[in-house]
Amino acid sequence: MEKKLKPIAHPLHGELIIPGDKSISHRAIILGSIAEGRTKINNFLSGEDCLRTIDIFRSFGVQIEQNDTDVVIQSQGVTAFTEPKEPLYFGNSGTTARLMIGLLAGLPFHTVVYGDPHLTERPMDRVVLPLKEMGANIDGRKNGTLLPIAIRGKQLRGINYTLPVKSAQVKSALLLAGLFAETTTQITEQALTRDHTENMLRAYGVPFEQDGLTMKMNKQSSFHAVNLTIPGDISSAAFFLTAGAIVPGSKLTLKQVGLNPTRTGIIEVLQKMGASIVCSNERTEHGEKLGDITITYQTLKATEIAGDLIPKMIDEIPVAALIATQAEGSTVIKDAKELRVKETDRIKAVVEVLKTLGANVEEREDGMVIHGKTDLTGGNLKSYSDHRMAMMGVIASFITKEEVVIDDISPISISYPDFFKHIEQIS
Ligand code: S3P
Repeated sequence: MEKKLKPIAHPLHGELIIPGDKSISHRAIILGSIAEGRTKINNFLSGEDCLRTIDIFRSFGVQIEQNDTDVVIQSQGVTAFTEPKEPLYFGNSGTTARLMIGLLAGLPFHTVVYGDPHLTERPMDRVVLPLKEMGANIDGRKNGTLLPIAIRGKQLRGINYTLPVKSAQVKSALLLAGLFAETTTQITEQALTRDHTENMLRAYGVPFEQDGLTMKMNKQSSFHAVNLTIPGDISSAAFFLTAGAIVPGSKLTLKQVGLNPTRTGIIEVLQKMGASIVCSNERTEHGEKLGDITITYQTLKATEIAGDLIPKMIDEIPVAALIATQAEGSTVIKDAKELRVKETDRIKAVVEVLKTLGANVEEREDGMVIHGKTDLTGGNLKSYSDHRMAMMGVIASFITKEEVVIDDISPISISYPDFFKHIEQIS
């Protein structure tokens, strides 16, 4: 679905309640289905990716009622799961794919899993290889590195594994496998990645040891249901933080946003660039910090985005690059090679989009350099079938001189079905 966008020639003002966090919504369905009893989830993200995860558990026979943002799961635990009759479809969702492969490796079923053409090209060896070390029986295209993948679940054993990639999906896949492994699973990260799985395991009372970047867990294949409230997604809020940062005179408040310190890299970067950001009403629910964020437009200066900051804002690098076009000086983004294996190659895609809009950007193997400040022109943009690239193009159009046309905005429903409604509310 093509979309033509006219520049917004006035400041943005108002408040938005940001929809539920995508990562936490997936995990709530997964752990809520494993748990015995009734889990009620508030503020679930009813985006396409999370609906895929619900479909998967329904095909195991778990009763899940979903009414927009309210979800009720009624489960008798994994021992009551039934072997699915059809192959399992993950759509575009990397999180569903990686986490489910981890879980399925230890369940007593044969399953075949597949995804859409984009997910089919994304690396799965990062989960398959350590799972095989745990004893998993997994095979698939290109020697088990790509979907479709077939899994014959079996009794796993724990491993002591240092993650070669900074990836919360891989960490979470191994933690889920570790729930069913007969010996201790020990995982060490190179840098802290989002810790929602750990927080939720604690909320469910699963014993779990953490010492710096190392975590240890023992078999715990059953636990009792708890109710969960999901904070707003800071990765969705980031699009409106960007709008507030680049549209002169704007002031926006984004409410009930997750402020888990493993996710707030975009706030750190905006503050380093000189943006005025105030967090208020801060509280913690089920181990997850949340609060309201107010951004007031200020002139911006360039910064460096690198190292351990990258995993804390991995999905926000596209908007950070857009913000950098409006900052004085050269912003360097490096150590971000992981972006090349996201929904699309986001280094290439961001550079192409920003160049089309007249920005001064240089592509690097592990990032990019953006020389600001430049006025943005307008033009024809691609979404690359990537929800975040499509939304970045829409936000960029707020400050372009001429019209922006995006070839396909339909991927936005993957993570932010109310995106355009929310734009109307503040413009
Ligand atoms: C996610 C982890 C990140 C992120 C993705 C969601 C998760 O991926 O980019 O959107 O829910 O664990 P990686 O683990 O590949 O970095």
